[in-house]
Amino acid sequence: MKRLSLAAAVIACACLFAYCSGSKKAVAAKPPVTAFTYEGHIQKIMTDKCSPCHMPGKGNKLPLDNFETIKTNIDDIIRRIELNPGERGYMPFKKPKLSDTSINIIKTWKADGFPGVI
Ligand code: HEC
Repeated sequence: MKRLSLAAAVIACACLFAYCSGSKKAVAAKPPVTAFTYEGHIQKIMTDKCSPCHMPGKGNKLPLDNFETIKTNIDDIIRRIELNPGERGYMPFKKPKLSDTSINIIKTWKADGFPGVI
């Protein structure tokens, strides 16, 4: 009886080990983190944070509702969002600073070469 339960324990351990190492492999095989894209990330940040001033039909500032203008002005955009409220040229004008996460998403998007599809 003792021997039987020992054998059962050994088998249980072996199964657990196989299960664990199997799941580890599954994690390692996961595809790399998806790149930040215009449609997936940038567009939403601009619409949320740069409205209404930079949205055509609502404001009259540089239109930040399209890929091309954002790409062309990316250095000025990054420079401004990295300033602090009150500093000359700071954006979003008279609104709270963007989160570090949002700023990093925009910088990574530029570094990655402006991915444009999800
Ligand atoms: C409440 C209105 C308002 C919001 C919100 C706002 N801006 Fe602006 N933006 C302005 C004004 C006013 C100017 C012109 C003054 C200046 O150049 O500093 C300007 C100018 C700019 C310029 C220079 C080009 C131009 O039109 O003269 C850039 C680039 C810019 N903003 C980026 C942004 C970004 C990026 C956001 C969102 C994260 C944002 N702004 C949010 C009002 C706003």
